[in-house]
Amino acid sequence: MQSTGASQESLTVERRVVETYSGIIKSDLPGPVRNPEAAVRLLEKKYKLVVDKRVVTLVFAAFMNGRPVLFEGPPGTGKTEIGEALLELWAGKKPFVLPCSEGYDEYKVVGDFHPLLAMQKGFNEESFIPRPLLSALILDTGILIDEIRRSNEEFQNILLDVSDKRRIIVPELKRVFRARGDGFQIIFTSNPEDIGQNELSDAFLRRVIRVEFDYPPRHVEARILELRARERGPSIPSYLAEKMLDALEQLRKSAASYKPGTAEGVVWARMAQAIAELRGSETVESSDIVKAALSVLVKRPEDYDVVSETVKRVFS
Ligand SMILES: Nc1ncnc2c1ncn2[C@@H]1O[C@H](COP(=O)(O)OP(=O)(O)OP(=O)(O)O)[C@@H](O)[C@H]1O
Ligand SMILES: [Mg+2]
Repeated sequence: MQSTGASQESLTVERRVVETYSGIIKSDLPGPVRNPEAAVRLLEKKYKLVVDKRVVTLVFAAFMNGRPVLFEGPPGTGKTEIGEALLELWAGKKPFVLPCSEGYDEYKVVGDFHPLLAMQKGFNEESFIPRPLLSALILDTGILIDEIRRSNEEFQNILLDVSDKRRIIVPELKRVFRARGDGFQIIFTSNPEDIGQNELSDAFLRRVIRVEFDYPPRHVEARILELRARERGPSIPSYLAEKMLDALEQLRKSAASYKPGTAEGVVWARMAQAIAELRGSETVESSDIVKAALSVLVKRPEDYDVVSETVKRVFS
């Protein structure tokens, strides 16, 4: 084959995917990690995530059966980060992440044609732009489909079909792309309490392995706050960290509309540390924590009173 005009004679979809994404999916893991115990250890050490071995085992068991997994639970409980990390561990490559929105269709996730190139070269592989779902399948890595309830039912059905059959058909190219290994896996996340969302269809729920997320037990949340605190700068004395956990626990029971997740606990702790640092102090005091509280914990005006009373009571 002549080497001139390489782009014209040898541009296939696979080649384009490899050229575009192989740098992005490169992981610093030496290879896949599929032993749940080893995964739990790495999750804490490398990703600063505290994950129950039960969750890891369920996810890996689902992957062994080629089933997609649905993480469902309240906001800020680690669904997205844990999903990404587990897909990376399973495949030994970084996953693609697809944040859903109402307008998603197969052109946005499988691929579509570049209008100008299509006019010049026709509707063929040279003008085709592969998108994340097809790219993940070709590169044999995972895909995290975030906030699936924000998408429409038609889109959910496309995803299920791909995951069931482990192949994607692109009629315009007269091509069938098939998964070549078992690295291609799907995790969906969903937060059923978010307002303005769609229901998941029975067909969808029948196919996925559902893993429920909740606020972590107190000792786990204490460990998370410790792991996620700002590394340098003032530290939070443990009796104050305990009080923060008390306040979070109480607000989850009593907040009118927005219940703080672990995510808010972490941001609250880090804001208090930064406020203490700006004060020139080496330790966080309760006034730093109180100062950060309202800005971090109040998301809607109707929660203002309950947050301010709870924080006052716990820290007085
Ligand atoms: N198990 C955990 N281990 C460590 N950090 C955690 C854990 N759970 C939650 N967090 C904290 O919460 C933050 C947000 O997590 P993530 O975005 O994955 O939550 P989520 O459940 O996807 O939230 P949302 O529903 O709002 O999308 C993390 O950056 C981390 O600070
Ligand atoms: Mg999320």
